[in-house]
Amino acid sequence: FLAIFSLNGPAFAGTLDDILDRGTIRVGFDAGYQPFEMVNKKGEYIGFDIDFAKQLAKAMGVKVEFVNTAWDGIIPALLTKKFDIIMGGMTVTSQRNLRVNFADPYIIIGQTIVMRKELAGTIKKPRDLNKPQYKLAVKLGTTGHEAAKRYFPKAQIFEFETQDDAKLEVLNGKVDAFVYDLPYNSIFASQNEGRVAFIAEPFTYEPLAWAVKKNDADFLNWLNNFQRQVRGDGTYDRMYKKWFES
Ligand code: ARG
Repeated sequence: FLAIFSLNGPAFAGTLDDILDRGTIRVGFDAGYQPFEMVNKKGEYIGFDIDFAKQLAKAMGVKVEFVNTAWDGIIPALLTKKFDIIMGGMTVTSQRNLRVNFADPYIIIGQTIVMRKELAGTIKKPRDLNKPQYKLAVKLGTTGHEAAKRYFPKAQIFEFETQDDAKLEVLNGKVDAFVYDLPYNSIFASQNEGRVAFIAEPFTYEPLAWAVKKNDADFLNWLNNFQRQVRGDGTYDRMYKKWFES
């Protein structure tokens, strides 16, 4: 009987054990997504996700290593073990959930519209953009991209690799609007008051959550209990105020 059992080899230890053995948690994201992950003037990563990742590493007693990865390849990068977890404002979608597991959501957002200021009088609600003459910018592979195809099938959709490129196209008037996450667009609009118009009311429902590989109950359990702790002890509120209310 023993011989038969040993054929199974050692049990899968899981990502949590890998991290503890390595002494480092490797966190994947796609920088430039304000206020979650940005690069400051010194070249350091800063933002809500970054602070969360540092807290998480501290609670685990390990170091943190940041791995910046293009958004449209971020799930494959997780699955091929380029890092241990995606902490990048990823929306939980049923489709993504077929490939990865999500920890409990850490914030709820939705898609919003930032547009050329000249459109403010014409476009009163997002649906008004669903006409062939409108050019919409989206970031490749995001839920904004999905939402644009679904809600504005008649409009022209232009895909950009980075959110900064999409933003610039609205500012220089080459496209009419950028379809993107509420927190990003709200900062974009407030930094360009008088140059763009903002429809702040989100038109989708999007929980954001950390993504990990499937079949890893130990890691998920740790993450969810960690989040419950930081929500209860004031850490979450402190980080939230720092990045969303200042
Ligand atoms: N929430 C959106 C999505 O899941 C956009 C997230 C973009 N995140 C980033 N780090 N650039 O598709």
